Parts: sequence; C-alpha cells; structure tokens
Amino acid sequence: MNIIVLGASGFLGSKVYNRLKAISEFNTIGTCFRNRQNSELITLDIVDEKQVKELLNRVTPDIVLWSLLSKDYPMERELTHKGLMNVIKEMKKSCKLIYITTDGFAEGRGNYSERDIPSYIESTNPINLYIKSKIEAEDIVKKLDNYVIARTGPMYGMDALLSWDKRTAELIHSLSNGREIIRTSNLYKTFVNVDDFAASLVEMIQIDFKGVIHVGPDVKESYYSYNVKIAKKLNLDTSLVKENCISKYEAIERCISLDTSMNTSKCRKVLKTKFRNIDEYLIQGL
Ligand SMILES: NC(=O)c1ccc[n+]([C@@H]2O[C@H](COP(=O)([O-])OP(=O)(O)OC[C@H]3O[C@@H](n4cnc5c(N)ncnc54)[C@H](OP(=O)(O)O)[C@@H]3O)[C@@H](O)[C@H]2O)c1
Repeated sequence: MNIIVLGASGFLGSKVYNRLKAISEFNTIGTCFRNRQNSELITLDIVDEKQVKELLNRVTPDIVLWSLLSKDYPMERELTHKGLMNVIKEMKKSCKLIYITTDGFAEGRGNYSERDIPSYIESTNPINLYIKSKIEAEDIVKKLDNYVIARTGPMYGMDALLSWDKRTAELIHSLSNGREIIRTSNLYKTFVNVDDFAASLVEMIQIDFKGVIHVGPDVKESYYSYNVKIAKKLNLDTSLVKENCISKYEAIERCISLDTSMNTSKCRKVLKTKFRNIDEYLIQGL
C-alpha cells in the first residue's frame, strides 16, 4: 500500500510517519515544507500545483494523510483552496484521504458528536480564519468517495525529538523561570495525546472505516486543569499557575466558545486504540 503523509515534519505527522515506516508492507512517503531535519522527507509546497502533481503521479497513493497546518492563519485558506484542491485533483478516485481537523464548534455547549456541524466564528476571534478554512476543507473532503475526517482538540505530548508541544513547553518555560501563567478554568476541550492519535490513524489506515470521527478520551479538561496536572507531574511549582474565568458576557463579546469538548464514544466503538485521559497518561509516565 502506498501512503503519503503530508506534514511528516510536524508534531502529529512525524509521529504517524515513524509508525508507518516501521510497517514493512507499507510504502510510506513523508513530506516537509521548511523543516528539513529529517533528510528522508520530500520537500513539498502544497500550494504548488506542479510539485503536488509530480509527487502524486509518481507515488500513486492509496492513502493520503493531511496533517498540514500553516504558521499564519490567512495562509491556512491557501492550504485549503489551493493545496487541498491540488491533492484531490491528482489523487486516484479510490484513494482514501484522511483529513485532520479541529473542534470548531462555535456556540460552545460541549459534548459535540460527529453529527454536529462545526460553525464559523466571528472575526473578533483571531482563530476565525483557521476555523473557516477547516470547515471549508471538511465540506470539500465530504464530497469524496473515500475519506476520513478526524477531529481533535488540543494535542499534547512530546514530539519525535522529545520536545513538548508548544502549550506545554510554554508552561514549563514560565514555571521553571519562576513566572506565573494564567489559564482559564471554564474553557473546556478534549485534550488528545499525540501518540494515541498517531496510533489511531495507523489503525484507521488498516481498517475499512470511512466518515467523520471525533478522537480522544471521554473526559474533558479546562486549560487550567490541564496545566496544573502537567505542572504537578513535572514537579513544577503549581502555585504559579493562576486561574481566570471568562464570563458568559465576555465569551459572547469576544466570540469565545467556552466548551468545544467532543463526544468521543464513536471512536471507542470503531477503534481498538485507547485514548488516555491526562490522568492516565501522567500515571503511566512520560
Ligand atoms: N496541534 C494541535 O493542537 C491541533 C489541534 C487540532 C487540530 N490540529 C490539526 O492537526 C494537524 C497537524 O497539526 P500539527 O500541530 O501537527 O501541525 P505542525 O506541527 O505545525 O505541522 C504542520 C505541518 O505542515 C507543514 N506545512 C506547512 N505549510 C505547508 C505548505 N505550504 N506546504 C506543505 N507543507 C506545509 C509543515 O512543514 P514544515 O514543518 O516542514 O515547515 C509541517 O510538517 C493540522 O491539520 C491541524 O490543523 C492540530
């Protein structure tokens, strides 16, 4: 089976790529863009039609995994409207596209199932362009015959080089330097461990699953509880993690969805991969 991992130099993509490379019956090709630390990867700018055409015609993938993210939000729209379209144009019809997306649920009532449709958020929230691009991409992907849309909340864990994800790295850096950080205690998400997610994507490649799936444990966390738990485990000074709360009025004013946690019961039915909650992850050791 020929597999292309788009974004194999990234946080999630590198984890999936390494797992797939260890499976001998797969011919796995990974791409990078500006981060060329892994010399095995092929440099690809997804918005460059010629480069995408050359790669897809050469590899003729059975699976394409989209694990791309732009460093700036306006560019994310280019990734969707040029990059994703470039890939779809060159993929054979039977090729399965696995598209990684996010919990863009605007009204913030929590416990969102796969039947719930993500919605646009107002431009007063800086992530609106990112969410808009992801929603537009989901609409494009849903028109394909063979697709998986895997939605995740914030991903955490260590990357292939044992560096923490950006949010956790910021926590460690601040607390190690005696600096306080403030995190919101009523902003809830389904935090997903990157290794569990990577394992589930490898499983999704191996089983006959199509459609939308919410991945992650069945427990939600607030940004505050997440940070306190990690700080405690790492023997950092938890008293430096301060708590704030966003009022309903402020949430409406700033277009902040207070609870975008996902109902993940489907992934427990469909997949064997276990998604650990933060407590389980921390008990098992880092
Ligand atoms: N991280 C999270 O908490 C989170 C939460 C929800 C959903 N997601 C989704 O999960 C996926 C993976 O996220 P991540 O955190 O692993 O992202 P990441 O670490 O930032 O990796 C992004 C990847 O995209 C590549 N890339 C960027 N622009 C490109 C371009 N023009 N052409 C080709 N490649 C390009 C990067 O290449 P270089 O590194 O080589 O430049 C990198 O390999 C994304 O689709 C994201 O929307 C992430």
